[in-house]
Amino acid sequence: MIEKEAVVIFVGDVVGPSGLRAVFAHLPAFAKKKKADIVIANGENAQRGFGIGKEEIEALVSSGVDVITSGNHVWERKDAEELLGSTSVLLRPANYPAPLPGRGYGVFKGRNHSWAVINLQGREDLYPIDCPFRTADEIIARVKREQPDAFIVIDFHAEAAEEKEALAWHVDGRASVLAGTHTHVQTADERILPLGTGYLTDLGMSGPLDSVIGVKTDICIQRSLTQIPIKMETSENEASVCGAVFTIDTATRKCLKIERFELK
Ligand SMILES: [Fe+2]
Ligand SMILES: [Fe+2]
Repeated sequence: MIEKEAVVIFVGDVVGPSGLRAVFAHLPAFAKKKKADIVIANGENAQRGFGIGKEEIEALVSSGVDVITSGNHVWERKDAEELLGSTSVLLRPANYPAPLPGRGYGVFKGRNHSWAVINLQGREDLYPIDCPFRTADEIIARVKREQPDAFIVIDFHAEAAEEKEALAWHVDGRASVLAGTHTHVQTADERILPLGTGYLTDLGMSGPLDSVIGVKTDICIQRSLTQIPIKMETSENEASVCGAVFTIDTATRKCLKIERFELK
C-alpha cells in the first residue's frame, strides 16, 4: 500500500559539540515517533561553530541525519574543499561559483520515497554569489526532468526574511518545502502557500541555550560595546534541537502540515 503522507524532519544549524550532543540525544527517538521518511540537518556550524569536518558528519549520520546541508561557514575549514568533493551526504549552497567543489543538490533515498534536497544561499547581507532564484529554477527543472518522483525540499540559507519569503513564493507549487536557515533564531511564521509549498523563515539553531546565536555571551557583549571584531568562541552548555516537521501529501506533493519543534 502506498502511504498517503510522507514526513521530512528539518533541523536548523547544528552548533558545536553541545549541539551535536543534543542532536544525538533527542533526534533518533523523535524521528521514530514522527515516522520520518528522511531527516535533513544544516551542519555549517557543527565544528566548534565554524564549518564541519569528518567527525561531525559521522556524528550527525549516527544520530539519524540522512542529508547535511550547509552555508557560508562551510568553507572555513582548510579541508572543506576535499570533504565537499568526497562526501555525498554533505551539500553546499548551489549558487556558489561553479569551479568550487561539492554539490548544491542531490536526490536521496528516504525510507519509502526519493527526496531532492536543494541547498541555496541568499545574497542580502551575505555574499554576492550567483542568483538563488535562477539557480532554483534551473535545479527544479532538472529534477523534474530527470527524477520526477522525487519530492523537492529546499534549505535556503539566508539572512533576510524578505529574500526568504520571496524565494518561497517564487517556488510555490514547484517545491514541497522551503525552510530557512542561517539566523539561528526560529521564527513562528510557518505557513502553507497557495500552491502547496510549506514555508518557515528560519528553523532556528540546534546549539547552546546560554549563548548569543551559539557564541559565548560575554564575547558578543564586548563586540557590541567596543565594535572590535573580538574572536568568536562557541558557547558550551545545555543545548536544544530546533527545527520543523513537514508532512507532504504523496499524491499532490503539497505540504499538509508544519510543526515547529524545540527538543531539550
Ligand atoms: Fe549557521
Ligand atoms: Fe550561515
